[in-house]
Amino acid sequence: MELIKTSNELTQRLTFEKKNGKLIGFVPTMGALHEGHLSLVEQAGKECDTVVVSIFVNPTQFNDPKDLERYPRDLDTDMTLLADTSCELVFAPSVEEVYPQTDERVFEFGQLDEVMEGEHRPGHFNGVAQVVSRLFDMVKPDKAFFGQKDFQQLAIVRDMVRQLNFGTEVVACPIIREPDGLAMSSRNRLLTQKHRKSAPLIAKTLSESCNFVQSKSVADTKKFVTDAINADENLKLEYFEIVDGQTLQAVDSWSESNYIVGCIAVFAGDIRLIDNVVYKFA
Ligand code: PAJ
Repeated sequence: MELIKTSNELTQRLTFEKKNGKLIGFVPTMGALHEGHLSLVEQAGKECDTVVVSIFVNPTQFNDPKDLERYPRDLDTDMTLLADTSCELVFAPSVEEVYPQTDERVFEFGQLDEVMEGEHRPGHFNGVAQVVSRLFDMVKPDKAFFGQKDFQQLAIVRDMVRQLNFGTEVVACPIIREPDGLAMSSRNRLLTQKHRKSAPLIAKTLSESCNFVQSKSVADTKKFVTDAINADENLKLEYFEIVDGQTLQAVDSWSESNYIVGCIAVFAGDIRLIDNVVYKFA
């Protein structure tokens, strides 16, 4: 496994791989790696010949400066974890390398960006699109692997790939969870003990709410989830939306779409956690 820090080096290295007919798989990350990230690397290894993992805490996607400042960074441990995987190249560029000039591009995602994360984290997805497109320009991957954990991000990335005509196939990978159900996240390590103890309630509630699909209305399901989260004094619900899995627009009834997902954002203290559950997929 090789650590690469500049885009010139990366291009050189990948030109060689491509000349040899290798299928390039790419896993973009912000580091502080956990089993969720590693599952994407594993999937990339199954589907591709050469796996590139990027580690870059992208400043343009943080709407909260405090969140950016305290975001965990630990390249040495990340390298150790990746050494045991199918990752061949680790690309860990500096901010100047990714953004030699300020990225002024403004993307249009229409309604996809107006709800949930887009609504509560203004500018977040524009920053995600900026960095993912910059990285795709450098890596030119055949396939790129993203987690369903960031459900809306996946929809945004797919739309960006379509808009910019990248030939990259976007592969969605399932959410990896802690044994107690909490969706793995780099931010979990920032939780205090009491908030860590409360956090599994998010996944537990989403899981229980699946039973409602047969018997209760969408409105009742929303109420059930909202009440359950707010009943825990250590958690504060930011939003819970039941949406069409493609358009991300809220649905009022279970029959409105054959792909329905519940997406949630919760503050555990001042750490923001997101999760989701697929209610219906035909
Ligand atoms: P990051 O939060 O580091 O996540 C990198 C990738 O890992 C994303 O595709 C995310 O959905 C996936 N992932 C995170 N936790 C997961 C889990 N528990 N199970 C499965 N997959 C999981 O998402 C980002 O970074 C950034 O926005 C990025 C795309 C790298 C752009 O900066």
